[in-house]
Amino acid sequence: MKVLVIGSGGREHALVWKLKQSPRVKEIFCAPGNAGIAELATLVSIQADDVEELFRFAAKNRIALTVVGPEVPLVKGIVDRFERDGLKIFGPSKRAAELEGSKAFAKQFMKKYGIPTAGFEIFSKSQFAEAENFIQQHVAPIVVKADGLAAGKGAVVCQTRTEALNVLGEFFRKNIFGEAGSTAVIEEFMQGEEASVFVLTDGSGYRILQPAQDHKQILDGDRGKNTGGMGAYAPAPVVTKAVLKRVEEEIVQPVLRGMREEGRTYKGCLYVGLMVTSGRPKVVEFNCRFGDPEAQAVLPLVDGDLLDILSACADGGIGSIEVKFHDASAVCVVMASRGYPDAYETGKAIHGLENIRAEDGVVVFHAATRKENESFVTAGGRVLGVTAIGYRNDLEGTINAAYSAVKRITFDGAYYRSDIGKKGVQYFHLKE
Ligand code: AMP
Ligand code: GLY
Repeated sequence: MKVLVIGSGGREHALVWKLKQSPRVKEIFCAPGNAGIAELATLVSIQADDVEELFRFAAKNRIALTVVGPEVPLVKGIVDRFERDGLKIFGPSKRAAELEGSKAFAKQFMKKYGIPTAGFEIFSKSQFAEAENFIQQHVAPIVVKADGLAAGKGAVVCQTRTEALNVLGEFFRKNIFGEAGSTAVIEEFMQGEEASVFVLTDGSGYRILQPAQDHKQILDGDRGKNTGGMGAYAPAPVVTKAVLKRVEEEIVQPVLRGMREEGRTYKGCLYVGLMVTSGRPKVVEFNCRFGDPEAQAVLPLVDGDLLDILSACADGGIGSIEVKFHDASAVCVVMASRGYPDAYETGKAIHGLENIRAEDGVVVFHAATRKENESFVTAGGRVLGVTAIGYRNDLEGTINAAYSAVKRITFDGAYYRSDIGKKGVQYFHLKE
């Protein structure tokens, strides 16, 4: 079987790596991919959002399954385009992807179906004065979010009302996100611990992967600017069996049912961003795809053929497939370029990758690299996802394995957080 993976980050490298282990996969293509992915897949130089070109490539090359990594092509309707001509593709349709593409839609949907989430109000640009009034009447912290896709920058947790008013002004007056910010969701701040849960679904049946935790901020201790994610680990003990049961009953099942009722049957991976407060999960956000870097920690834990699993989401029948997990924990530490998430330099030579061996339980997923004269150089903000897989009951050991690998890899200006997974270790100590 020929498979095409769309995207170019660490998530896509992890998808390619896992799919490649399937005995049924004969050849893997990745569009556009990166230099690390090129070790496993044939790169295709088509951008991830060029729906028509991707369709043409898949049709011409008789791709049996296309797997979409990032949200942009999904929100643009790549699944509808492929399915219209009978091509098999893993991901939600355009109307289903609105769960990520429009925060206003997602919030109204949750309200209608009684799915637990932060209280909110929605305002369009023409309701600027009402929105300001609303902020004035609430206590900080207040969360202000742009309705549309804003590359992960559209949600701002404001510590004061003044800050919330400023953010609103940036959306409505300065149009910093253009159309995506012309409607705003203003919501209540939720206290608690965040976790990410991936639901693989064919629209009615589903399987839930191991819960993970991302580390969104640039500095240790969750301080500093928001990034695309500086590291992840799984399974995340904050999502206990009891929490997961609530997630299934109070969130996953009503979401899938509600989306069917709305005529927006949701297929593919539903990323449920959770806030867990005293054992009660609420939805922070939905994404219509695997999370990154979470996927780099979650996919290695799947004990089974990912091609079978993803195909069963596209074709139907995921509910009758057993998805097993290794009795293991995984920790992914992101190595980034100095300056990220602001300006940074690229083209720095990466050394030490040859010292990392799969036999030691470590795999390095590339997020942004290219090759110059046969060696890898940096090509973006987040460069590598160094992922260790270790014993499930020894998260601390897995963390140490990840960091000992990180220390063997160098490039000029390499930056990483030194506390990835630490939140999870506390739970192990609590249990003792
Ligand atoms: P979002 O783009 O909706 O995922 O928001 C980005 C980040 O902002 C989340 O991962 C949370 O850390 C934070 N956040 C968003 N909404 C809330 C909320 N209602 N309460 C607390 N934190 C939030
Ligand atoms: N790690 C957060 C995201 O993928 O949206």
